[in-house]
Amino acid sequence: MSTAEKTFSKGLEGVIAAQTEMSFINGTEGILEYVGIAIGDLASKSSFEETVFLLWNKRLPTQSELEAFTKDLRSHYSLCDAMKTRITSCPIEAEPMHVIRTMISSMAMDDSSPNENSVEAAREKSMRILAKTPAIVAAFDRHRRGLEAIDGDPSLSFAANFLYMLNGEKPTDAMIRAFDICMITHADHGLNNSTFAARVVISTLSDVYSSITAAVGSLRGPLHGGANEGVMKMLNQIPSVDAAEDHVMNMIKNKERIMGFGHRVYKSKDPRASELMTLAKQLAEDTGNIEFYDKSNAIEQVMEREYAAKGIYPNVDFYSATTYHCIGLKLDLFTPMFVLARIAGWAGHVIEQLEDNRLFRPTTDYVGPHDAPYVSIDDR
Ligand code: CMC
Repeated sequence: MSTAEKTFSKGLEGVIAAQTEMSFINGTEGILEYVGIAIGDLASKSSFEETVFLLWNKRLPTQSELEAFTKDLRSHYSLCDAMKTRITSCPIEAEPMHVIRTMISSMAMDDSSPNENSVEAAREKSMRILAKTPAIVAAFDRHRRGLEAIDGDPSLSFAANFLYMLNGEKPTDAMIRAFDICMITHADHGLNNSTFAARVVISTLSDVYSSITAAVGSLRGPLHGGANEGVMKMLNQIPSVDAAEDHVMNMIKNKERIMGFGHRVYKSKDPRASELMTLAKQLAEDTGNIEFYDKSNAIEQVMEREYAAKGIYPNVDFYSATTYHCIGLKLDLFTPMFVLARIAGWAGHVIEQLEDNRLFRPTTDYVGPHDAPYVSIDDR
């Protein structure tokens, strides 16, 4: 490509940097499909396990395939002793996202062939990372509460097992289903920043652990997966439903970003926000947290009035905050929940990248000086 043909797009907006068969997004009409299936259908009819199979195989499984896939996933639920020791050596003040990033990176040391990058090996490593990350989150949270880690229970689904390992008791069916829907809706989303990070790293033929570790580091940023924690902080700062309007108007006046709103791709309401809004309302009613839902709704109405013309609507993080709060999760576990789900997408993209790899190596538009004199240090 000649220099004249090269264009600069800040933040790579509008640049097509990869092909995928996993998720399709129409940001104008608010459509999200995984392998052609509408997110709403998957949220209401599928399970997280089936959704992961779909993303990794580009088709829905038969009953026996789903059983085999689930059995494989469940066989990796628990952590080895070395990993448990590493988790209990983390300072209890550490942020869970830093612990997760470090622990996923450390999983390479428990693998006898961490650098093997065949598609088959990448699938196996992905299965282990997907199965064990919930145990990492639960074990660290228990460690900081002075409690022993609980081993995974292979009779439980991915969603049920995480809540069981975290709380030490079997969750209700309603909680399991709510958590499962959160996992489905967060599983994949085109070439978002963390997925791009994962694909960039694996394109060097580094290794799956490095790739997923980089993605975790990207996701924790407040403009990406960290926004759900920002939403909850805002909801906590607003003392009542009636105070929501003034609070948001003040933020707008001060040119602050309202977390949980806006998206690079969606210029209409994020379809995941619509799914999670319904879920959040139901859960809020069931758990006596309706005030959080009502505050969210009041914020959405102000934002609709002030920002809809600019194409700024609620994104996935807006109602996931209330949902996670109602499930009983601590604030700093909100972004980790995004990790648990998005490993499905990251791993699927790593596999796609390995299947047809070319090194990512964009270029820069140099805007500095030329022919500058080298001034010796004594003369500067
Ligand atoms: N609140 C107030 N103004 C906003 C917001 C917001 N949430 N989002 C965008 N804008 C304004 C922004 O100030 C700018 O205005 P102007 O043109 O007057 O300078 C304009 O919209 C364009 O903003 P941008 O940052 O150039 O657009 P982007 O495509 O890079 O934005 C975004 C995408 C997600 C970074 C941004 O909407 C944002 O910061 N949102 C808040 C954080 C958030 O909720 N992130 C989660 C995203 S969805 C889940 C995920 O991917 O992790």
